[in-house]
Amino acid sequence: MSTCAALRIMPDTENYLDIQGGASLAGEVVISGSKNACLPILAATLLAKGTSHIENVPKLKDVYTLADVLRSLGAKVKWTGDSSLSVDTSDVSCLEPDPELVKKMRASVLVMGPLFARFGQAMIPLPGGCSLGKRPIDLHLTGMQMLGGTVVEKPDSVMVKLSSGTRPVATNIKLHFPSVGATENIMMASALADGVTIIENAAREPEIIDLADFISEMGAKVLGAGDHTITVVGTETLRATGHRVIPDRIEAGTYLVAGAISGGKITLLDTRPDHMTTLLNQLASTGCKITTEPDRITIDAPDVIRPTDVRTLPYPGFPTDVQPQFMALMVKAAGESLFVEKIFERRFLAADDLIRMGADIRVLENCALINGGKRLTGCEVQATDIRAAAALMIAGIWAEGTTRLKGLEHFYRGYERPIEKLTGLGVKIKDASEKHSHSEVSS
Ligand code: UD1
Repeated sequence: MSTCAALRIMPDTENYLDIQGGASLAGEVVISGSKNACLPILAATLLAKGTSHIENVPKLKDVYTLADVLRSLGAKVKWTGDSSLSVDTSDVSCLEPDPELVKKMRASVLVMGPLFARFGQAMIPLPGGCSLGKRPIDLHLTGMQMLGGTVVEKPDSVMVKLSSGTRPVATNIKLHFPSVGATENIMMASALADGVTIIENAAREPEIIDLADFISEMGAKVLGAGDHTITVVGTETLRATGHRVIPDRIEAGTYLVAGAISGGKITLLDTRPDHMTTLLNQLASTGCKITTEPDRITIDAPDVIRPTDVRTLPYPGFPTDVQPQFMALMVKAAGESLFVEKIFERRFLAADDLIRMGADIRVLENCALINGGKRLTGCEVQATDIRAAAALMIAGIWAEGTTRLKGLEHFYRGYERPIEKLTGLGVKIKDASEKHSHSEVSS
């Protein structure tokens, strides 16, 4: 265990929810702030001394975990409104997040870049593998090394420390893969570097642009975010600031797919269709009618869904985080579809349970062939990661009878008030443990 402040223990969420299949979704749903944008932005508050105010923060478990990580380092984190968090980093003194928290959520490694940049040192417990397969952090570490850090690897942790001087040294870094987390850690570390850092083959996700905007608001200059090459003009000190997080394109995608499988018509509010072009095109190719305005999307789904092949890729390609949900949709589609997963080595975790519900899916390494069209039957299923949980929930909406979804802790990691939102759209869904149904668990 870390020697830092004691941590809040999250309650057990090993419970289940029951989904009654057959509803046709209708109505409107408000999309929350982006989990994956929020986590690096909260980590980036560590770059400056003072209080930052972050708005449109979703109340979900991964955010609570990152808040606990920041607290364990000495920050004061408080909810100041329904979806606003203030983070006061004035008293941060601990440079090692708690291993138990890092184990819960790999994104905790995002504190490495800012701690290294501001304090010249960070000790990061190794997150290890996860249900999606091996997830190394070699690109993060190479980035810190190139910015003037010495990396000392121990069996269960890694220390990065400035080799000399008091600031990271600006450099040119070419990533061999456009890793989202590595791009974020390097952007944060180089914001306090002496000089101009260029990151080539950077990740291009909208969450990268949101982080770049936040770092720029703190006083560094970040150019080219959203493109392959990002330029960060470092500065000696940064200031705490305010920021509003972008809408969650993965949550939005999940509700769109739920609407599609149900044959319903729903409208997403507070969303960004321009962040979801590939997914919207793919949904359109299944026969769904999609209409967009700058901050809303309506999907009107036909009874018969056409099959379409899916190949996940870094943004702007098809997002791996919507692949399991889309697979559930293709189980309904009338015909064959081929899935090729290019980001993670094991991301067909929902397939076995979909097969138990009656789906015809054959998985071979990173490919899955789905022969769709057979009606699913509800049964007890077990989620093993956030998006597999969403996929099984979506399958349950279409299945005959009741689907009992276990492993809810995964669902609540990534979705804000899912029961309330789904119920509002007409899904008959009940969390057996009411205390968790709004996922306002702690913090
Ligand atoms: C982020 C998202 C996650 C999403 C993923 C891909 C957050 C909090 N999480 O995760 O939801 O599924 O992007 O869009 O934003 N890799 C290496 N070495 C590294 C880093 C990554 O080999 O140092 C590999 C990984 O093992 C994986 C691939 O690169 O196979 C993609 O990982 P990465 O883009 O880094 O994803 P995360 O930032 O972990």
